[in-house]
Amino acid sequence: MGIEKPTVKYTQIFINNEFRNSVSGKTFASINPTNGEKICDVQEGDAADIDVAVKAAREAFKLGSPWRTMDASQRGRLLYKLADLMERDLDYLSRLETLDNGKPIVAAKFEIEAAITLVRYYAGYADKIHGKTIPMDGNFFAFTRIEPVGVCGQIIPWNYPLPMMIWKIAPALCCGNTVVLKPAEQTPLTALYCATLIKEAGFPAGVFNCVPGYGPTAGAALVRHPDVDKIAFTGSTEVGKLVQSEAGNSNLKRVTLELGGKSPIVIFNDADLDLAAGIAHESVFTNMGQCCCAATRTFVQEDIYDAFVAKSRELAAARVVGDPFDEKTINGPQVDETQFNKILNLIESGKSEGAKVEFGGERVGDKGYFVRPTVFSGVTDEMRIAKEEIFGPVQQILKFKTMEEVIERANKTAYGLGAGVVTKDFDKAMTFMQGVQSGTVWINTYDSQFGPQVPFGGYKMSGVGRENGEDGLHGYCEIKTVIAAIPQKNS
Ligand code: NAI
Ligand code: MG
Repeated sequence: MGIEKPTVKYTQIFINNEFRNSVSGKTFASINPTNGEKICDVQEGDAADIDVAVKAAREAFKLGSPWRTMDASQRGRLLYKLADLMERDLDYLSRLETLDNGKPIVAAKFEIEAAITLVRYYAGYADKIHGKTIPMDGNFFAFTRIEPVGVCGQIIPWNYPLPMMIWKIAPALCCGNTVVLKPAEQTPLTALYCATLIKEAGFPAGVFNCVPGYGPTAGAALVRHPDVDKIAFTGSTEVGKLVQSEAGNSNLKRVTLELGGKSPIVIFNDADLDLAAGIAHESVFTNMGQCCCAATRTFVQEDIYDAFVAKSRELAAARVVGDPFDEKTINGPQVDETQFNKILNLIESGKSEGAKVEFGGERVGDKGYFVRPTVFSGVTDEMRIAKEEIFGPVQQILKFKTMEEVIERANKTAYGLGAGVVTKDFDKAMTFMQGVQSGTVWINTYDSQFGPQVPFGGYKMSGVGRENGEDGLHGYCEIKTVIAAIPQKNS
């Protein structure tokens, strides 16, 4: 007996604190990845709906509006209220996330709890965002004033649907922006439910709007819209490049991007084997491998390579694959058929390019999008599985000899999102940390250790800008410099 499936309550577009149908009258299906069946139809927004949503967000942003005249501390209180409402409905939200995305219920709950913490973190920041007084030359009084950017378009992926929404909206609202959010077409349901909580918390109409729909239609319309001031995007590097150029071509709207990765984790000979294998295992298999910073290149120093591979095989075999509504399940289905096929195809490429399947390498069952946790050994840098983002439960174990070599190989990628190192030797950890080009470096731990307080983002083609922490506010603010002349003499 698993946990009870939730009833879906909201499937419409949310604009001006109200639900409505799409202008075109079109809908699309949200699919349950556990069995491939339709959960419900959702209103499909496109350029026309984006336009209505942007107008609402613009109106709400006008000087003199309830939102713009609200005290900063009151914005914080609304965010605290939202966090409380999410906590009240945590059980329902987790079940809805599991239904729509396929992630195990225990993980869904854990992730949403972390998202609530992030809302509270930014709630506290609302009245603590301030500028400086600056001693400029001459008889002037100069200061900076930090203002919201304006209407923010936010496009999010399906791997962590509700947390990704919160990573975007919490800093944006904290600074006083208004938002048009486009959730991923695979997983729109928790965002629509959360929209009702935003209204219930007391945010004025038009401050938050949510338009479900497809990327090339709704998403692209948001990116191109001339009255949107900023785009925040999380998803593939391919679409990220498109977003940046389209944003530039339209009105040079501000852009922050959180994109793909092919993150390395490096295990030195001196590491505790069980600890290292456990960290490396979680770093790639968490969330069925559907994590932008998944460490999909495990570099192991030669002396411990064979023992490490054996241990990794054991860990993969112990991963319970099954119904995500069962609390014992660790590994649910992949999010959709496209991702499922991409992963199986890359697994086949690994086999044909000569890597050894230590475990897995196939689908599980004949219904839904389940992939057996897979471990490859004997992987070399040129194989597709060592170069391309797999976004599935597939570990590549590579062998290395020296520090110099492993730093060079770790950096031999267009990406730079995450990196890990496991060693008891502090000097080795520091040398690797300095050499690796990566937005985050984890030492003797990996991405289970996140926190709202620390910035997250990518070097190179893994992204632009940072989310979370104080740095996460910068992408949602403009700096207004004010210079006032001070009279020279009493006159
Ligand atoms: P995607 O980049 O196409 O989709 C992410 C979001 O962007 C979705 O909301 C989608 O509707 C939207 N989008 C798609 N095309 C757009 C366009 N032309 N203009 C504006 N918005 C657009 O990613 P997809 O197709 O879901 O997954 C493809 C691969 O991307 C995955 O296999 C994985 O490797 C990577 N990925 C990385 C993520 C990350 O967290 N960095 C998240 C999701 C996917
Ligand atoms: Mg796509």
